[in-house]
Amino acid sequence: MTATSVSRVAQPPHPPNRIPILGDVLGIDTVKPMQKTARMLAQLGPIYQRRILGLRLTFVGGADLAAEVNDDTTWQKAVARPLQMLRPIVADGLFTAHNDEPNWAKAHAILAPAFTQASMRSYHDTMRDVVDEMCASWDATTGDLDVAAEMTKLTLETIGRCGFGYRFDSYNRTELDPFIPAMNNALGYVQKQGVPVPGRALYDTVTGRARAHRNNIEHMFGVVDDVIAERQADPHDDPRDLLDLMLTTRDPETGDMLDAVNVRNQILTFLVAGHETSSSALAFALHLLAHHPAEVEKARAEVDILWADSPTVSFEQVAKLRSVRRILDETLRLWPTAPGYFREAKHDTVLGDRYPIRAGQMVMVVLQSIHTDPAVWGDDADEFRPDRFLPEQVRARPGHAYKPFGTGIRACIGRQFAYHEMILALATILHRYDVTIDTSIPLDVREQLTLKPEGVRMSVTRRRV
Ligand code: HEM
Repeated sequence: MTATSVSRVAQPPHPPNRIPILGDVLGIDTVKPMQKTARMLAQLGPIYQRRILGLRLTFVGGADLAAEVNDDTTWQKAVARPLQMLRPIVADGLFTAHNDEPNWAKAHAILAPAFTQASMRSYHDTMRDVVDEMCASWDATTGDLDVAAEMTKLTLETIGRCGFGYRFDSYNRTELDPFIPAMNNALGYVQKQGVPVPGRALYDTVTGRARAHRNNIEHMFGVVDDVIAERQADPHDDPRDLLDLMLTTRDPETGDMLDAVNVRNQILTFLVAGHETSSSALAFALHLLAHHPAEVEKARAEVDILWADSPTVSFEQVAKLRSVRRILDETLRLWPTAPGYFREAKHDTVLGDRYPIRAGQMVMVVLQSIHTDPAVWGDDADEFRPDRFLPEQVRARPGHAYKPFGTGIRACIGRQFAYHEMILALATILHRYDVTIDTSIPLDVREQLTLKPEGVRMSVTRRRV
């Protein structure tokens, strides 16, 4: 529909306390912006708009509106401010590339074959080794453990080894690999920049934060450039990981290879995009399961049978762990660890039959709101019920009501990788350990581009099976 044919043209609702010139700056939550946005959507309806200094950002929280925004004929991925802030680190890497940047299509064509379900076979043994190392470290632990930190170690180690043969050596050293604090601090800085606050750039320069940020980025570049140089000096005979693929494969379309800077951008992209989303999903899953012991028993019924015949899980068995997969799907529904994605209109259009949108205008799809839209998910939308993901229930639902991995051609390339590592890890944990988490402590969710459960602690005891 075009803007001229609309009969009920309206502006989307906006937050209370709009002020002249500055707009909707009052009430911005710079620490937990996404959780505030989800609350605003619950209050204002399936759509609202925030204007800051003339900049408009529209938030969508209803499944029907999301379906419109996911339509690739009218909309496309937008590299909005939070992603732009990542570009000094990852530039035109897959996640932050603009749609028309040539390196996106090139890297997508070269890397997509490495992320099919079948390709997971080549990562399976490494993923299992990392899970086994985690278990060995848990067995040697007497005190309680930080859930998110444990899951972060696991997923960072996994992507480091499967992607580039890099070991953070998380289970053997007492001090963190310096890459990890550099990356975490850089991402923390970027997260703060994502919310536009007048005067912040000056403040960061005066306080030295901007310089510290640049130093963190330099450190990350140095580590990754060394990894690339070492591999170039001593290449593998057969391509084994993402780095091999990037250094040896030509784009079938252009015949070009990725240049060295772009390879670095992709490695950093996989490290940034490929660990915290999965680690936090696992951490949320453990937290939710602590509140739902019946779901633990259901999953164990399946997991323990698979283990009965072999001491460990094979590649083929991972796909059979259906109840573990449902637990993860339901976890990502309630806690989409990538909390949303941005789309921009390719041309003037109208949203929801009444809200005119100009070409280039951006909309954010807020996943927590879409994933709990009562029109699709019912009155118990806030409850943890993994059986919602039984095949017949999935078939009965519109696909656009569940998008934890984004949408269209720019959806997550690492989806299969994430599922494989998460299912393997969660199944192993459920089989080997009784996990105890104090459920009386309210959940505190931190935001750093992703959503992450903060401060949840667990104790683990070996099961007798
Ligand atoms: C539970 C785990 C994960 C979640 C929830 C998740 C979520 C997402 C979402 C929502 C997007 C789309 C962003 C947008 O439209 O702006 C995305 C893109 C992406 N993800 Fe993931 N992701 C996960 C795991 C991974 C892993 C394990 C990797 C790499 C190994 C990865 C690599 C990427 C990349 C490279 C993109 C950009 C794709 C492109 O634009 O071509 N992700 N992810």
